[in-house]
Amino acid sequence: MTDQNEAVSSPLGLGAWAYDRGRLVPAAEPALPLSTQCLHYGTGTFEGIRAYRSNDGLCLFRARDHYERLLRACRILRITVAETVEDLIGITVDLVRRNGHDSDTYVRPLAYKLSLLPGLAPGVSLAGVSDALSMVTYTFPCEPGLKGVRCTISSWRRPQRDALPVQAKVVGGYVTSALAADEARALGLDDAILLDSTGNVAEASTSNVFAVFAGRVVTPPVTGDLLPGITRDTVITLCRESGLDVVERPLGPGELLGADEVFLSSTGKGVDPVLAVSGRDIGSGAVGPVAAQVAGLYEAVTHGADSKHLDWLTCVAPD
Ligand SMILES: Cc1ncc(COP(=O)(O)O)c(C=O)c1O
Repeated sequence: MTDQNEAVSSPLGLGAWAYDRGRLVPAAEPALPLSTQCLHYGTGTFEGIRAYRSNDGLCLFRARDHYERLLRACRILRITVAETVEDLIGITVDLVRRNGHDSDTYVRPLAYKLSLLPGLAPGVSLAGVSDALSMVTYTFPCEPGLKGVRCTISSWRRPQRDALPVQAKVVGGYVTSALAADEARALGLDDAILLDSTGNVAEASTSNVFAVFAGRVVTPPVTGDLLPGITRDTVITLCRESGLDVVERPLGPGELLGADEVFLSSTGKGVDPVLAVSGRDIGSGAVGPVAAQVAGLYEAVTHGADSKHLDWLTCVAPD
């Protein structure tokens, strides 16, 4: 292992240490060959995991679920990972501790196709290509309060599940998210809601979508062309536990405009109220009561204040 003194913290919040192919190394050290297959063909998969400060220190939220999703995606992409879910959780805890994070943190594991095995001709391939796994961490403070976002309905459609394994966070698939988010920002908006090929709501660029009608929470089903978000699952669980009715059914874009409330869910942003879609206020155009309630429940469960779900937390004991 490299001397700790060689690792220097980045002002952007990138942790000084990274995990790279079996070793903890200074985050600036790994250099990939320009022929790296994932760079050319998008043949990789990643996760975004958050750790929040609670009374027990910094705790990873639903790390097991994130790593199970990562390893399922690896099977789809024929990426062989030596590490088990338990190993990955252990590596994450070590890395977060080594990087000295003591406030809200974001963990980014990436499994990817690296190099063609000797003797194989260059080209798109999954078999016959070596695999690699890396991990970096960032200090990533949660934004205080609920500001809400304004969205457009994107002109880009979410690819169908028979065109892309949408249930996995596949690197190449994020081209659609990037185009949609870029389109929204060029319009002066915060995010884009993408429709599926049938014209129903799929998801936002990097979040799942919920709408509220007369106190009932509606979200598109995971059989649609969307990522089954871990935050989505958390929101559904918390809503049902607190007596809110949740229905998973196709949701039309016109329905969003008539909803009492719309909100997004993701690891990166938590529960994010949508104030307007396509220039039209949703409900009163302010943060609605259901979104505020769900955001409060989410804040409690991620920060160790919900005793029913302490098993979702993996706490990083300080050195
Ligand atoms: C396309 C997409 N949909 C939904 C989500 C939300 O997933 P999760 O709640 O697991 O973060 C993400 C997260 O990054 C995403 O990239």
